Amino acid sequence: MTDKSTQPRVLIFDTTLRDGEQSPGATMTHEEKLEIAALLDEMGVDIIEAGFPIASEGDFAAVSEIARRAKNSTICGLARANFKDIDRCWEAVKHARSPRIHTFIGTSPLHRAIPNLDMDQMAERIHDTVSHARNLCDNVQWSPMDATRTEHDYLCRVVEIAIKAGATTINIPDTVGYTYPFESAKIIRMLLDRVPGADTITFATHCHNDLGMATANALAAVEAGARQIECTINGLGERAGNTALEEVVMAMKVRNDILPYRTGIDTTKIMHLSRRVSTVSGFPVQFNKAIVGKNAFLHESGIHQDGVLKNVETFEIMRPEDIGLTQKNIAMGKHSGRAALRAKLKELGYDLADNQLNDVFVRFKALADRKKEVYDDDILALVADEQTND
Ligand code: KIV
Ligand code: ZN
Repeated sequence: MTDKSTQPRVLIFDTTLRDGEQSPGATMTHEEKLEIAALLDEMGVDIIEAGFPIASEGDFAAVSEIARRAKNSTICGLARANFKDIDRCWEAVKHARSPRIHTFIGTSPLHRAIPNLDMDQMAERIHDTVSHARNLCDNVQWSPMDATRTEHDYLCRVVEIAIKAGATTINIPDTVGYTYPFESAKIIRMLLDRVPGADTITFATHCHNDLGMATANALAAVEAGARQIECTINGLGERAGNTALEEVVMAMKVRNDILPYRTGIDTTKIMHLSRRVSTVSGFPVQFNKAIVGKNAFLHESGIHQDGVLKNVETFEIMRPEDIGLTQKNIAMGKHSGRAALRAKLKELGYDLADNQLNDVFVRFKALADRKKEVYDDDILALVADEQTND
């Protein structure tokens, strides 16, 4: 067994309450935000991005209160690249035991055109705003928004400026979910190779899921040297969402042989958080969502059911208990076989003789053809019928 306690740590930065809440329709109440933040803090999230304090009075109040209440996590607020945003952010996070200011500006050609800054003017703005944040707080994160569509030479230049101005974490956002795993890794490697001072700060990866690669892109960045993953519960986030916390954390746990890093996450709290975030955001989790979907640990086909009944590892790469799930892993339906029916009957307290089992199985199959899922009560009714007919 590998001794994981000596492995390097990858920090988990959760932005469910900021980037996640930015999904259209995912707005949470003040109380709901406090509840989610408390659960994230308890689960071992290293940094909670609690909101965007200048965005509204409500966001400011939530970030301030979360900062006051957090027991373990660093509390971070988001600020655009101007002094007013940064000051407001500091006013909210300063109550935390461990506060962080996260400031950002779009550095790609498309994003530079919006404030109408040329490359030199933007470089100066980055220097001034990061220095200002650093004068307020000794934990400053800086993000070149749309980094994956920023010219590489310019990206290296602005990252160097931000480090010199005092940023302690440099986050590389794939804002529009445009990158590929090998490109995500290449960018981190390039920054580590080319930027003076890159070895003195932490690189973070922040991926969106527009092409369905957010988890792969985040893990590739870690492989290349990033040591902070930005993610959300259930992958909640604008458009197709962000990297899902449960996916990167479980991927590093299950395939620790491939990516030998540890996180501080208590994975047994994942399922509860997933359900709470789904409820308070109003965003249902798709049935076949990796890790937390309703079907993620369910087996219906006869071959799979037979396999897991003999040795659970035949079709399960992780245990439901690892994420705090206690549900049974067998779904009874038309693909289920005799072995699964026998096991289900045993669980319900019946040990039928072979001929009775055969009869019940025939009727079970006929029922399963009509119904999507056959519940315990349906099976009990079939047994009662069988016993009456005997
Ligand atoms: O996706 C993004 O670029 C962001 C930044 C604000 C970090 O969320
Ligand atoms: Zn984002």
